[in-house]
Amino acid sequence: MDKRRVIVKVPASTANLGPGFDTLGMALSLYAWIDMSVARGETRIDLYGGRMNGVPRDKSNLIYKVAQMVFKEAGIEAPELNIAMYSDIPLTRGLGSSASAIVGALTAANALAGSPLSMERLFHMATALEGHPDNVGASLFGGIVVASWDGNAANHIRLDPHPDLDVLVAIPEFQLSTEKARHALPEQFSMKDAVYNISHSSMLVAALATGNLEMIRHAMKDRIHQPYRASLIPGMSLILEEACDYGALGAALSGAGPTLLSLVESGSSRKSELEQFLIATLEKEGIRAEAIWLKPCLIGPEVDLLDRSIEEISLMEWIKGEVRA
Ligand code: HSE
Repeated sequence: MDKRRVIVKVPASTANLGPGFDTLGMALSLYAWIDMSVARGETRIDLYGGRMNGVPRDKSNLIYKVAQMVFKEAGIEAPELNIAMYSDIPLTRGLGSSASAIVGALTAANALAGSPLSMERLFHMATALEGHPDNVGASLFGGIVVASWDGNAANHIRLDPHPDLDVLVAIPEFQLSTEKARHALPEQFSMKDAVYNISHSSMLVAALATGNLEMIRHAMKDRIHQPYRASLIPGMSLILEEACDYGALGAALSGAGPTLLSLVESGSSRKSELEQFLIATLEKEGIRAEAIWLKPCLIGPEVDLLDRSIEEISLMEWIKGEVRA
């Protein structure tokens, strides 16, 4: 293990897709990279890119802690580590930044250790850490993931996204913690709302699995989290109500928000109209937002085990040309 260095590229993700609260996830073509190797001296953590403000650089760092869990689980003595990370995934915006850090750390440490843990084991560990399987499932398996977690067992089925699916995200500049957004939710729901969500989430999975893009607008509706979170994201209700009138196939709050996500047919001629509608609606509420066009990402983490001869290349040199910044 001492001689290895691993660089892992992990996708961002969106969770819920409207009605599939804590159940549905989709990986997105926005990435974070984690570089990990066994340190000769003390642990060192370097974070690159402007999106990492406030992320700890000592042993309280999530990536370091998650890596130690992998070594423990594998029965290997935990080494001191060199960790570097660069991320294009904005923090606390509902694009699964913490899930991708967890999945990246699990994958990198497992690869360093010679891959003793299965994907299913990593999925279980990631879900237990996050508390829900939707973001971590998508980041780990890629594509669209339908997942369940009962506190003991994490299960999933992965679907291939329709090839004509594009994704528009409008990322508000303010942050919203998942904790705060979960706090807004009630403890109990009426039978009517429960049935509403079960039927719409099931319909959405069937539409995505069969490529029935027309059905998405009817299926992508929710009554158990978005209405309660609306006051935290001014402009959201109007966007969810009207995005389809501006060319979206469907729209939802991305994860716990505040990012708003629209699914769009790749060939649509109305892309800039939709983008303008989203940005203008948020602007009217005094919210500046960045719009980014993405694709569903079809695969989970990409792992490169580096040969000793290229050990000296820095992470930033390695990923040059691939990053957004
Ligand atoms: N399903 C979770 C929620 C996702 O909506 O709270 C959080 O990233």
